[in-house]
Amino acid sequence: MKSIIELIADALAAAFEKAGYDRKFAMVTLSNRPDLAEYQCNGAMAAAKQYHKKPIDIASAVVTEASGNAMFGEIGAVMPGFINIRLSARFLADYVEELRGADKFGLNTAENPETIIVDFGGANVAKPLHVGHLRSAVIGESVKRICRYMGHHVISDIHMGDWGLQMGLIITELQVRKPDLPYFDPDFRGEYPKEAPFTISELEDIYPTASKKAKEDEAFAERAHEATLKLQQGYAPYRAIWKHIMAVSIPDLRKNYDNLNVSFDLWRGESDAAPDMEPLIEDLEKKGLAHESDGALVVDVAEETDTRKIPPCLVRKSDGAALYATSDLATIVQREREFHPDRYIYVVDKRQEMHFIQVFRVSKKAGIVKPETKMIFLGFGTMNGKDGGPFKTREGGVMRLEYLIRDIDDAVEKKIREKNKVPENEIEDTTKKVGLAAIKYGDLSNQATKDYVFDVDRFTSFEGNTGPHIQYMVVRIRSILAKYREQFGSLPEAAIRPAESATEKGLQLVLTRFAQTVENAFAETAPHKICQYMAELADAFNGFYLENNILGEKDPERQKAFISLIRLTADVLDAAMSLIGIEAPEHM
Ligand code: ARG
Repeated sequence: MKSIIELIADALAAAFEKAGYDRKFAMVTLSNRPDLAEYQCNGAMAAAKQYHKKPIDIASAVVTEASGNAMFGEIGAVMPGFINIRLSARFLADYVEELRGADKFGLNTAENPETIIVDFGGANVAKPLHVGHLRSAVIGESVKRICRYMGHHVISDIHMGDWGLQMGLIITELQVRKPDLPYFDPDFRGEYPKEAPFTISELEDIYPTASKKAKEDEAFAERAHEATLKLQQGYAPYRAIWKHIMAVSIPDLRKNYDNLNVSFDLWRGESDAAPDMEPLIEDLEKKGLAHESDGALVVDVAEETDTRKIPPCLVRKSDGAALYATSDLATIVQREREFHPDRYIYVVDKRQEMHFIQVFRVSKKAGIVKPETKMIFLGFGTMNGKDGGPFKTREGGVMRLEYLIRDIDDAVEKKIREKNKVPENEIEDTTKKVGLAAIKYGDLSNQATKDYVFDVDRFTSFEGNTGPHIQYMVVRIRSILAKYREQFGSLPEAAIRPAESATEKGLQLVLTRFAQTVENAFAETAPHKICQYMAELADAFNGFYLENNILGEKDPERQKAFISLIRLTADVLDAAMSLIGIEAPEHM
């Protein structure tokens, strides 16, 4: 469907032309003074320069030409040359009625669907998920859903960190703890045990211990390094341990992501790229892109137009160990071979921006990726605690994601029990849904690149700009609908009718903007726009609800139209919520 803005622009373009001016000046935006107008066009200001006339004269001439159009309730030229517009209630109601029947509320899905890789999650095997991984999961899941809703073919990949130093650290520490395991006996010729030599809780103890040791004990660090290298070179006993680590760790990761209602099409990792790393390096050398620098192999990626220094991309260290960039590049080689993506979106901590600038440039320079393929880095900021520093446990340690979710759920459950509106058998499910909404909306209501403060009290509040508040509005609407159904047997199939009050019109106006919001959120890879929109829609509904006694309305025709309007509101809110990966409970 064409957006309202486009329809107004079309009408104004014709008016500009009739008045003797170029159509291109018919640019329309939402009014920044909602008290004065709903939409505005500032084109007369720009036209004035070209035609050497006063802007107000041009605006007035255009208004004269446009004023017969039934879509406008009010159209006027104001000094120094703005055109202010209000829609006619009839036109608006018909438009809302049309989008009510349209697929995805009038969304213009992709004409040429792209294949899009969304690389997010980025969990590191054998390390518990911590809050740093939360943002990638939450933002990435939403990006994935938005792309898919737009009709694109989306492949999400968790791209686990499963090939780096942490593996060597674990192997080395395991050898300290259990030196008699067959993996550490060079003469062992039998089959390695099927059973892992550790449980998940042991593993979670092994890694931090090893990591600490490596920082304090150089010899230990050196051994861990060697073990990593040996693993990467395919040393069978270490490969066997590696497989155990994966087998123990992945189910635990899955459980955590399931709890967040976050999922991936592919559970691949850096290790999967390993077979393509050497050929990639050879290719880079053959093309004359990679050269030696201090014993390492690098690719220059600086460009003349750079305003800051972009250092060369390191593709092989002097000891031959695989590097982060090499594994990302090799992964791209594989993705090209397998999926031919039109677009890549990486959702990773913004501190890794330089890494991705380098990787993207090498990909294009080496012709691994076509010049027209979009490579987007969506870097996110830090999640801070109330004290302004990075989010920590009360003891000052790194907060595990599980505990963070538990804290939120505890706060939510307490609130739900206080309010006493949720039947006992729904409390668990409701707590989960509301807790997730608190976390996800709390994150996604901020622009991804910004740091934000994780505030349990604020995020779990049922009022204000929060996820639970949005859910609450939907629950409220559903409860009105249920009562109507109880009284009249079924919901009416009444059309949206011309608004009779400012709040009713306000709600209709916001409803018309869902499609454009999603299109923008996709085009700009900006899920926070969905949250912004939900907040506006919830506000508009609340305004309408407070002013109209929907169930007490005496005029049955008006009441039916009200029901259609709020039902549409709930459906749009539902769709928006699903784009950020949350849903409303039955009761709240
Ligand atoms: N495992 C990495 C980390 O924890 C994040 C991976 C991001 N994705 C990528 N393709 N490099 O820092």
